[in-house]
Amino acid sequence: MRMDENAQAQTLACGRAVARDFLRSAAFLLLACVGFGLLVALYYTPLAPRMNALGLRLYLLRPLHTGAALGWIYFAGMAMAHRWLFEHMAAGQAPTLLRQVAFRARVQRWLWLGSALVAAVAYASGHTTGREYLEYPPWLALPILAGWLLFALNFAQVTRFRLGELPVHAWMWGTSAVLFVIAFVEAHVWLLDWLLARPVRDLAIQWKAMGSLVGSFNLLVYGSVAWLGTRLCGDDRYARSPTAYALFLIGILNSFTNYGHHTYHLPQGETMKWVSFAVSMSEIVIFAKVAWDCTGLGRRWATRGRYPLVVALLVATTTWTCLQLALALLISIPPLNVYVHGTLAIVAHSMGTLIGIDTMAMLAVGLWLTHELSGENQAASARGLVAVVALNVGLLILWCSLLWVGLGAGIRMTSTGVLPWIGAYPGWLGSMLLAAGALIAAGIASLAWPMLRRRRDSP
Ligand code: HEM
Repeated sequence: MRMDENAQAQTLACGRAVARDFLRSAAFLLLACVGFGLLVALYYTPLAPRMNALGLRLYLLRPLHTGAALGWIYFAGMAMAHRWLFEHMAAGQAPTLLRQVAFRARVQRWLWLGSALVAAVAYASGHTTGREYLEYPPWLALPILAGWLLFALNFAQVTRFRLGELPVHAWMWGTSAVLFVIAFVEAHVWLLDWLLARPVRDLAIQWKAMGSLVGSFNLLVYGSVAWLGTRLCGDDRYARSPTAYALFLIGILNSFTNYGHHTYHLPQGETMKWVSFAVSMSEIVIFAKVAWDCTGLGRRWATRGRYPLVVALLVATTTWTCLQLALALLISIPPLNVYVHGTLAIVAHSMGTLIGIDTMAMLAVGLWLTHELSGENQAASARGLVAVVALNVGLLILWCSLLWVGLGAGIRMTSTGVLPWIGAYPGWLGSMLLAAGALIAAGIASLAWPMLRRRRDSP
């Protein structure tokens, strides 16, 4: 049944409201992440003993920081995916679906928000499993998983699994849900006693699952940016082109197999290592595409139209993607990997990717969702551009400092066989992290602020 105009407008308005709710939670988590990041950075200064005395332990602040970072990406990705689902629904489905889909989206958001709150309370009261990225009480995996299943149900019902008709961004969001569910279950296998008795197998499964989980949220981000791109240029031909699907397939292959570049040091079969290495290197194709895109950044900026801030953030995303892919490709080569494994260079790689690519892209998505109907306000855009510059300068300082110290430590580690203890880092590192952190925090706070407000956008 086709919708009449009223029902269509109602569906679109409902989609915008659902997206706004997810986005508000996302922006809140991003600000929390930055706040905890600044506290974590204090551990690299002489204030570390005082932090311990105050009960602000690194092993509790770290999961608060990283958990909020991941939550920000998941919530923001869900905002855009739901915005599209409702638009797809408005394009020609029975209005009866509207209530069910909106209800499930709301339950999903509350399940996730409740889980985030319980996890934060657990950390604040000193409880952690000690398992990196899965530090929360293990039973919280159930509501998190239930939230994903609700999204998967919404996706299946709205698209009716007519996969051949779906653009690449819908494929990315759908695949993200499947990948998350599989990898998340796999990541919790560590709770079984038989695995704890096999540390090498445990490490391999942990990296494999975490690699796929990162793949799943990358797909949420790529899907969101791909749809944003089609909306900004008003043409969705690229989203249905062979190039788009080919790049998507390379990404999927990597999500499942390239984890091996994290476990080169484990006594595993050589075949797996070679497969991982070969697949990791296939990302050269993506690198070439992104490097080519970088040559058109001037033209991209010239098309900014009503959304200068959104386009500035997308230009920054492309530049950082190029830098990060170059670094990722280099450190996936085994003899070079030896020098960075377990050092701050890896923090540069992971935090650089999360801020430079994922956060930059999702800020663009969030600002588009916020100003979709009215376009950006000129004065606010001018202020926003200063914030984008501050964020990027801060990130560059953070990235270079972590890489420099990490590489130095890696070289020393390979010659002495000892990994430096946290206190053995150069004295300037803490101040540099705090200065970079202050710039990042100022930039992010200014950009995320409009997403937190309840004001409604009007055409
Ligand atoms: C004020 C800005 C920030 C500062 C000062 C900061 C600081 C830090 C520091 C010092 C670490 C290393 C912790 C350790 O000793 O293990 C870290 C890790 C991390 N940060 Fe941030 N951070 C900031 C913003 C962000 C943002 C915006 C994100 C993502 C949205 C993020 C994501 C991460 C992740 C994922 C890690 C773990 C990296 C790894 O283990 O490889 N950070 N952060």
